[in-house]
Amino acid sequence: MHRPDEQFATSPNCATGDIFDLAADLARRLIARDGAIVPLPDPRRVEQALHLAPPALGQPLETVAEHLWRLLECTPSTAGPRYFNQLFAGRDDAAILGEILAAVSNNSMYTFKAAGAQILAERALIKHMGAKVGWTTCEGAFTPGGSMSNLAAMLVARDNALPDARERGLDGRPIAIYTSAESHYSIKKNTAILGMGRQTVRAIPADNEGRMRTDALAEAIAHDKAAGVTPVLIVATAGTTVQGAFDPIREIAGVARDHGVWLHVDGAFGGTLLLSRHRRHRLDGCELADSFTWDAHKMMGIPLTCSVALFRDPTLLQRSLDESASYLFQRDDDAYNPGLRSLQCGRRNDALKLWTAWQHHGDEGYEQRVERQFALAAHAVGIIEADPALTLVRRPQSINVCFAVAGVDARPLCNQLDHDGLIKVSHGEVDGKPIVRLVCANPALTEPDIDAFFAEIRAAAVRIRG
Ligand SMILES: Cc1ncc(COP(=O)(O)O)c(C=O)c1O
Repeated sequence: MHRPDEQFATSPNCATGDIFDLAADLARRLIARDGAIVPLPDPRRVEQALHLAPPALGQPLETVAEHLWRLLECTPSTAGPRYFNQLFAGRDDAAILGEILAAVSNNSMYTFKAAGAQILAERALIKHMGAKVGWTTCEGAFTPGGSMSNLAAMLVARDNALPDARERGLDGRPIAIYTSAESHYSIKKNTAILGMGRQTVRAIPADNEGRMRTDALAEAIAHDKAAGVTPVLIVATAGTTVQGAFDPIREIAGVARDHGVWLHVDGAFGGTLLLSRHRRHRLDGCELADSFTWDAHKMMGIPLTCSVALFRDPTLLQRSLDESASYLFQRDDDAYNPGLRSLQCGRRNDALKLWTAWQHHGDEGYEQRVERQFALAAHAVGIIEADPALTLVRRPQSINVCFAVAGVDARPLCNQLDHDGLIKVSHGEVDGKPIVRLVCANPALTEPDIDAFFAEIRAAAVRIRG
């Protein structure tokens, strides 16, 4: 009989081989059901059935593992051939290895004292990624996602434009932030978090390819300046969330330079194109930016979350974020104490999984990965163009393929496919009309998987049309 008071007493090293056997068994079972048709369960019924509240008395790990399995069974697979929903998909063995070891090692990434060489691996990644952006100097921070990387960049931009804002707040000064109408919602959300106000965001119209219009941007800044409003930053997007569009960064950088405004590139999605010699031209001019968001948990396939905020000037991030805390920062080696440049205090090691994966794939492997994602998207485009019932609403600039189905609203179509467990795919809007957004993020999928996706789309459309 398992006695709760025994569970901590058995060994000082809890991560024994038994745990890995249990984990391997669960992981294999999980992987085996990647392609299964799992109708969307009713959350209330699942909640009742699973008895999820923590118990008063502990249970043996084998019992917990079975309980855990029942939970996993009611969880969508993001690595199977039915998943096209978000900007990430698939699994990466090497990254999972790093992720497991980050949990076992359990170091907090604030100081060299606390995390040792893990800090150095993280620094090596930041340097490498900064070099891919095109910078010779760079500083950066791993954050819990692209939204937070954008937040860090917007904070530093705020302090750059308004040097006393960190101490005194904004004092009601009129300011403005410029981003395309197609940019990610985190830009607006972050202005509120930073006390800058959502109304400061100028949604610059996009052209008919979903790219920010530089003429409209220049006009908006000139108009604001004439009215006494201080421009704080411009956010260009490299890979918009719905259309996968790339704003013309070099042109936008020209406007930023002319007006002395900070330029941030949100490359959360499309930053990974920097790893492909054939695709990086989409980000032409990104080396002129002041900051850059890059999510490795999207196109690079690193387990969630893994995002980096990068800065061209290595001094500014720390200027905006450091606090003295003698109980934590106990050595003067600031370069090796990333806690001084972090939005967080205690911080999990998101770098190790990326470091492990990059060691395994190399730059070359990532280039091939990007090419494979694009090849799948091109295959999807071919299918759409050959079918009169399907319309490609935009020529893809990335791995997002946005299309419409004749006579069927994309919203009920996607919802029905999800409800029946056949396909998870999102709908979005282009030019104010609903579209299906197919994201070819999983390079392990095959052309027949894409064919099967469209077969499901056509069959569901027939069912909906009646
Ligand atoms: C362009 C862009 N920026 C930022 C984000 C936010 O990233 P995260 O979900 O990692 O917070 C997304 C997410 O889809 C995105 O598409």
